[in-house]
Amino acid sequence: MDDDIERILIPRERIARRVAELADEIGRTYSDSAAALTVVAILSGSVIFLADLMRQLPIRMKIGLITVSSYAGATTTSRGASILGELRVDVRGRHVLVVDDILDTGRTLRLVTAELRQREPVSVRTCVLLRKPAKVPPDVKADFVGFDVEDAFVVGYGLDYDDHYRNYPDIGILRPELYASA
Ligand code: IMP
Ligand code: MG
Repeated sequence: MDDDIERILIPRERIARRVAELADEIGRTYSDSAAALTVVAILSGSVIFLADLMRQLPIRMKIGLITVSSYAGATTTSRGASILGELRVDVRGRHVLVVDDILDTGRTLRLVTAELRQREPVSVRTCVLLRKPAKVPPDVKADFVGFDVEDAFVVGYGLDYDDHYRNYPDIGILRPELYASA
């Protein structure tokens, strides 16, 4: 895998420190809350982030996993995003925290938060590990953001190219020639 990474953008130690800070911020946000929390994580990109984050959240919670369709093999995903399957998450009367790997064009988060808001939650907040500020439209906001990154295609720590590199422990920029033809 190392040969396919042009350069490491965020090394694992920095990710770990930031995830701990995020857990702290999130924990404080919900600490006084009467309503219970459901974390809704978007598969598959958020799995590593989710696993690290949730173990540092000292809050009673439920977890719901949802899949949003994307174009296999393409580096620009979620054009015309749609939620796959039935949304089986316990949301009504609860706080909802949506967790995703990266906020890019905002289509994924816009779709998922709109769908969840229809189910009468107490609140819907969003948490992303990465955000590409250059591309995020003004109507899509993330409440908790790990890192703002440049507009390059990144992989690792859950993020993929064609479902590969999710297990790469750092976040790196993929060599452009590997996806130039996609
Ligand atoms: P959005 O819907 O355009 O905001 O994109 C969100 C989804 O696109 C993420 O959940 C990722 O799966 C994918 N994505 C966007 N940018 C990248 C990237 O640089 N590397 C890997 N996946 C990405
Ligand atoms: Mg993806």
